[in-house]
Amino acid sequence: MNKYRIMFSPTGGTEKVAKAITKEWDNVEDIDLSIADKNIVLSLTKDDIAVIAMPSFGGVAPQLALDRLTKIRANNCKCVIVAVYGNRAYEDTLVQMEDYAIKAGFNVIAAISAVAEHSILHQYATGRPYEKDCKKLAEFGTQILEKVDKKDDSKPKIPGNRPYKKAGAGMIPKVGNLCNACGLCADKCPAGAIVKSNPRIIDNGKCISCMRCVDICPKQARKVDGFMTVVASLAIKKACSVPKNCELFI
Ligand SMILES: Cc1cc2nc3c(=O)[nH]c(=O)nc-3n(C[C@H](O)[C@H](O)[C@H](O)COP(=O)(O)O)c2cc1C
Ligand code: SF4
Ligand code: SF4
Repeated sequence: MNKYRIMFSPTGGTEKVAKAITKEWDNVEDIDLSIADKNIVLSLTKDDIAVIAMPSFGGVAPQLALDRLTKIRANNCKCVIVAVYGNRAYEDTLVQMEDYAIKAGFNVIAAISAVAEHSILHQYATGRPYEKDCKKLAEFGTQILEKVDKKDDSKPKIPGNRPYKKAGAGMIPKVGNLCNACGLCADKCPAGAIVKSNPRIIDNGKCISCMRCVDICPKQARKVDGFMTVVASLAIKKACSVPKNCELFI
């Protein structure tokens, strides 16, 4: 049985969660769905298992990550779908991921929701996943391998609605005077939205507001609008006030 972590993690929270789930698994291969213009060539078998992890953006998964997932030839590979969110809500993310995983030919045997620090509004879920979250996630990972060992192919009941929630308009980061045009953000943008020859220019139509460019800029030259973040922060304050637990659907 080959084991895979298939991840879309612009700012690292989703990756932390996927690695915590697979802490007790040996020889896990990473597949990164966040590389723009990469041709994904991956063919799996029914004896393999994959953890497929994506962040929740506005209660759904990033479309670009879902589209890249469907490039994989899963051939009935077993999978666990994982929605990572910033403690507000993940709404329809898991059912949407389930549908796209099935479309790629995966056999969905479990689903997990987990909280990581909010990648725009860092005051929410700050520092998560905590050590105790990671411990719980590793336990989930072990339970999943036990299910595989028992050849239990039962389908989990996954929360969420179809049709899915409509993703709202995102916040597009702006570049400031500190930018020295090093090009790092253009190289690493998962959507290929930053012009390589002039990283000051963003294609607004391509940007998915994932915040990677803000996160990785060594000069802290990219930022989202301060006023908009205050408004967004107030809008979700109540929903974020109670810390949510990681959940396993198996
Ligand atoms: C555009 C965008 C939309 C988001 N929407 C939600 C949301 O609806 N609910 C929520 O709880 N967190 C939301 N978050 C927070 C992320 O889901 C969370 O921080 C996640 O860990 C980010 O994954 P990453 O660190 O792998 O990039 C959003 C973040 C971004 C950038
Ligand atoms: S990473 Fe920062 S400094 Fe480098 S091009 Fe992008 S915005 Fe400019
Ligand atoms: S330009 Fe948009 S899509 Fe690209 S890294 Fe920045 S926020 Fe993400």
